[in-house]
Amino acid sequence: MKFKVVAIYGSPRRGGNSEILLNNFLEGLGDAEIRKFFLNEMRFVPCQECENIRKDGKCKIEDDMQKLYPEIENADLVVIASPIFFGSVTAQIKMMIDRFQCQWLAINIFKTFIPKKKKGLFLCVEASERKDFFENAKAIIKNFFKTIGAEYSGEVLCCGVAEKGEIEKKKECIERVKELAEKIKKE
Ligand SMILES: Cc1cc2nc3c(=O)[nH]c(=O)nc-3n(C[C@H](O)[C@H](O)[C@H](O)COP(=O)(O)O)c2cc1C
Repeated sequence: MKFKVVAIYGSPRRGGNSEILLNNFLEGLGDAEIRKFFLNEMRFVPCQECENIRKDGKCKIEDDMQKLYPEIENADLVVIASPIFFGSVTAQIKMMIDRFQCQWLAINIFKTFIPKKKKGLFLCVEASERKDFFENAKAIIKNFFKTIGAEYSGEVLCCGVAEKGEIEKKKECIERVKELAEKIKKE
């Protein structure tokens, strides 16, 4: 069976730095079954804190998130790519994460669900050189990974990229994602 990868693109900018980073990572993976999700092009609402929710961990809002839930659950690897926006992940990423609240409740409160074990990777870019922004974003991603059963298994964090596509010039960042892909293939 092929290694199943879910790639989540968190930037609204197509062809931007985080997308380039993620694409380079995916190219390095070779023969895997890859599902790509461009959150900005999906139609979904933020968490509505619905009352009388089901206790099975399944969110009942019928929008594009319903396509993503089973893909994430069945993945062997989930890779999230996001730029830093105002010191954090993008709103698109945060909106997706919040929509896992039903799953969080099922795992931690109702004890009705245990997610399949998988790996999780985080790729992140920013214009500045602020390490604390990456730490902030990482804390959010790590928390999310726990909820989907993913072990935080690697990261590439690239600073000093602002313009669209500028990351192509940062050869060390591209090399780091290629190395990460090699490492994941061997594990
Ligand atoms: C709304 C917005 C907020 C941003 N906030 C930050 C920030 O807090 N710190 C930072 O270093 N860069 C910030 N940036 C710059 C982006 O992180 C940077 O341009 C990044 O390369 C964009 O990635 P992308 O091309 O994948 O969209 C911001 C950009 C936008 C559009």
